[in-house]
Amino acid sequence: MEKVFAQSKKFFSLSTEEKMKVFRDKKNRGYTPFLDETLDPSQQTKGDCKEGFYIGPEMKEEETEVWSPKPFHGPNQWPSEDLLPGWRETMEKYHEQVLRAGRKIIRLLALALNLEMTYFEKPGVMDSPMAYIRLLHYSGEVSIPEKGIYGAGAHSDYGMITLLATDGVPGLQICRDKDASPQVWEDVQPVPGAFVVNLGDMLERWSNGLFRSTLHRVILTGEERYSIAFFLDPNFDCLVECLPACCSLSNPPKYPPITSGHYLIERYKLSYKN
Ligand code: OGA
Ligand code: NI
Repeated sequence: MEKVFAQSKKFFSLSTEEKMKVFRDKKNRGYTPFLDETLDPSQQTKGDCKEGFYIGPEMKEEETEVWSPKPFHGPNQWPSEDLLPGWRETMEKYHEQVLRAGRKIIRLLALALNLEMTYFEKPGVMDSPMAYIRLLHYSGEVSIPEKGIYGAGAHSDYGMITLLATDGVPGLQICRDKDASPQVWEDVQPVPGAFVVNLGDMLERWSNGLFRSTLHRVILTGEERYSIAFFLDPNFDCLVECLPACCSLSNPPKYPPITSGHYLIERYKLSYKN
């Protein structure tokens, strides 16, 4: 984690020209500039004051033909090895390890839902997950919520779970009861070496609202801030529909079934300019 933070700082300190060479491609890999994304268009007057870099599962050569027509599936983009030696290796190692940690948490979720422990690992479910690292760098400006200026607008993550590593700089806030009015926001204290685990909207749909996704945002205090998000989401073609254990005649499914991939596409469309 420390190495990833160090390498992330090196990448974001490159010139804009250099970073734009690995601009986010149509497979959603690579660099996203400041203000590119607006996580809460209803409240924000400008985009999130953050830049980012997406890294996903690397396609093996023999898989490329099968997967490449699918959105989100393809090769990663990497900054040049000459500019940032060891960068790719650090990120690939982290991806492997954080995915392993994520899988353990998914097993606990299965047990908590009275499913067999390996329920989500079955073929077609999360055996080939969409698993993205997103390096983030927030600017040193101060957020002004009354004016619609945020580090990251209020949102819940889209998928199953997110493992979020933050540096020691404050800014992350959660709202425990998203239906309350007015909403109450609490600071999340950074814990060195620990992950903040956020539940995502697909888990909320799958569990018919039994697990609630976490509403969160980032309020900047004038200090630059770095974080590493890891989004762990079901296979592209997995149909996310109310688990039998989570509904009954008196508690019918609240959400229509949707595939994981199409759900993600719809959510990305709402927050990105292009
Ligand atoms: C996100 C997110 C929070 C942070 O990337 O979805 O909420 O602390 N990040 O960077
Ligand atoms: Ni988030």
